[in-house]
Amino acid sequence: MEQYVIKGGNPLVGEVEIGGAKNAALPILAAAIMTDDTVHIDNLPDVRDINVMLGAMESIGTLVHREGRHYVTINAANISSLVVDNENVKKIRASYYLIGALLGKYKHAEVTLPGGCDIGCRAIDQHIKGFRALGAEVVVEHGMIRTRAERLVGSHIYMDVVSVGATINVMMVAAMAEGKTIIENAAKEPHVVDVANFLNSMGANIKGAGTDVIRIKGVPSLHKSDYTIIPDQIEAGTFMFAAAVTRGDVTVRNVIPKHLESITAKLLELGCEVQEEDDCVRVVCSRELRHTHVKTLPYPGFPTDMQPQITVALGLASGTSIVTESIFENRFKYVDELTRMGANIKVEGNTAIIDGVGRYTGAGISAPDLRAGAALVLAALSAEGESHLDNIHYIQRGYEDFHLKLQGLGAQIHLVDTEQDYSNFRMMTG
Ligand code: EPZ
Repeated sequence: MEQYVIKGGNPLVGEVEIGGAKNAALPILAAAIMTDDTVHIDNLPDVRDINVMLGAMESIGTLVHREGRHYVTINAANISSLVVDNENVKKIRASYYLIGALLGKYKHAEVTLPGGCDIGCRAIDQHIKGFRALGAEVVVEHGMIRTRAERLVGSHIYMDVVSVGATINVMMVAAMAEGKTIIENAAKEPHVVDVANFLNSMGANIKGAGTDVIRIKGVPSLHKSDYTIIPDQIEAGTFMFAAAVTRGDVTVRNVIPKHLESITAKLLELGCEVQEEDDCVRVVCSRELRHTHVKTLPYPGFPTDMQPQITVALGLASGTSIVTESIFENRFKYVDELTRMGANIKVEGNTAIIDGVGRYTGAGISAPDLRAGAALVLAALSAEGESHLDNIHYIQRGYEDFHLKLQGLGAQIHLVDTEQDYSNFRMMTG
């Protein structure tokens, strides 16, 4: 079974290039099937969730041509089925974007209910509320969500919770519904804006994405587009925290610094230096980390997808820190693994109380989900001695070449699958 073997203790130094945003790319790929024209998408990350999504699109007759590792051409003129149901699709949460895309274009969609990381209850009531408000009938039965409409008609929709997925899904359907839709209490994440920009590049009329009120005038059809996905805010943030926990000096390139503001603010509180330029951010950490408190919130608050990474950093910081998780209730599962590395963290409900320990020690650990897996890698990179991380398939869902990018910064991390790989690692690291 594949593992990361990590020998910690050396500061990460150098430059790393950030790829396209997975959580923008997934709905953008789904939205690409809303036109019969050919769509070109650039800066696509080559990660498992994206490849599963492309497979799901192919399974219903979409022509997908990967022109390069990060460039794909999609043509959905001859979709053969509006039913998306296979074992792979269940593995990704984002399969629910195919419901919005198919319902918007064909007024009918049946998609197996999403899976994804086990980080808490992943309700879809707001998606369903939005589809119904636009005129669709929706039933959930036999593990499928089935939805159909005679007509889709614009509506005024108030989201009871701020949801990235529901905002994007309803926006996709409304883009092709008759008349005007207003989505209130919309999510404002950069990837919501990116999907709106992509739909607009195909001829949709969406205004206000990035604020909490999105206004959409439906159009009867969408057309071809050539679109480049925004950089991945969470991949960038993960490397910024890698610099912090290893007391390194890392420049993350190809980012939009504005999207990283909450992450930068917390790194400054921890005592790191952060320098921003047009499309890169440099993080330098030359002293002991300081404690702070953080609460995850919808954008522009501190992202839940960075919660494990900041907890790992605070576990090393002087003093007591408090991390409150307000988005997903089951996102502290990695704390048991960190405890095995010497962390002193107590979880009570949605709060982690952290007494910094100054150093971690290497251990055999296991990734419970995508972001927690990446955070455990950071812990291992900062630790004394060797760590072995299992279940790295979670990390491969969302980080392209994670270990190779870290190696480029001087990290001693290797992907091993056999005894021979492990012997090679031992030889290289002494
Ligand atoms: C997206 O999930 C991301 N996934 C998640 O990233 C991210 O953690 C999350 O947004 C929050 O930023 C993808 O983009 C594929 P939500 P999503 O709908 O859309 C509740 C990662 O690591 N809710 O914004 O599923 C829900 O239970 C992943 O890359 C409802 O109650 O998140 C949660 O508490 C993990 N009813 C909150 O809203 C609904 O109908 C936010 O969920 C929908 C959501």
